[in-house]
Amino acid sequence: MWLKNCWQVAAFSHEVGATILARRFNDEAVVLFRQASGVVAALEDRCAHRFLPLSKGKVVDGTVQCGYHGMRYDGSGRCVKIPGQEQIPSKAVVRTYPVVERYKAVWIWMGDASLADPALVPDFHWMDDPEWTACQGYHHVEAEYRLLNDNLLDLSHESFVHTETIGNAAVADSPLEVTVDGSTVSAYREMRDCPPPPFYVQAAGFTANIDRWHTTIYTPPGFHVIKNGSRPAGTTIEAARAQKLTRERRVMNMITPETATTSHYFWSIARAYALEDAQLTDYILTETARTFDQDADILAAQQQALSADPEAAFPVALRADLGAIQGRRVLAAAVEREAAGRREPAKV
Ligand code: FES
Ligand SMILES: [Fe+2]
Repeated sequence: MWLKNCWQVAAFSHEVGATILARRFNDEAVVLFRQASGVVAALEDRCAHRFLPLSKGKVVDGTVQCGYHGMRYDGSGRCVKIPGQEQIPSKAVVRTYPVVERYKAVWIWMGDASLADPALVPDFHWMDDPEWTACQGYHHVEAEYRLLNDNLLDLSHESFVHTETIGNAAVADSPLEVTVDGSTVSAYREMRDCPPPPFYVQAAGFTANIDRWHTTIYTPPGFHVIKNGSRPAGTTIEAARAQKLTRERRVMNMITPETATTSHYFWSIARAYALEDAQLTDYILTETARTFDQDADILAAQQQALSADPEAAFPVALRADLGAIQGRRVLAAAVEREAAGRREPAKV
């Protein structure tokens, strides 16, 4: 159920400093820390000596010192110091994971390290593009990552879960168009001549009816860029853009599985208007966090129901599910391809 030969977000850059950050990804325990050079390293969270989790230790001189007998490991996973002895056994190493820092985030590769090409980091440039103003946040979600994918590929739930912020009836009432291109699923919805929901009044300045659109662009395992925007009702997008009447955003969602039933949900909202307005940034941050709190609540309750009946399959599919269904298809195909690829070398 997991894709491992891919980059996934491990942390935002600001979370990783001179102390250990311990997290689980794909049910593997990892410690992240910044070396003396400033480069982030990721090690398995288990000392090679007596298996104490390294997260019980601390960073000393750019190395991780085990909290039990003081062995120190550098960013390459090699033991570089053992108290009371000169000789370092060749087996005194821990697994390392490739990491790359990009777009204000630390990306980790949980699979075959020889395939970890930094060029494969998915495009989330809006997080640090000067043409956009972005803010970011994190939710720990008590649900498996495919439920989060489903949630973002079917935004009709905004009409019921997010009525205080971004939702109103127009969302669920407008048809969804879904296209699949290779492993990318796009789910597009246009909501015409609808009243602006509360967030669109406060964060976009609309008081009269709007034409609103959103497209969720999904790539496995857990990446969603939602391109959304709004303009005065009845204007074409070209005319509204020319007159700077559109309010366009990128809602970036980076989901990394933690365990079979929990997920890390990293998100960032970038806007292409009012770039210098710090008060607006605060408002967007607060209201987005509140919106995603509502998702986290729904998803946790859904996971509980699923965990109570693990053999059950969803018996009903709605038209609005099409994006989520296609998302699960491309994900399953990618997982299958990866599993097949792993078997290949074993046969040889
Ligand atoms: S368990 Fe880590 S040094 Fe002994
Ligand atoms: Fe939501």
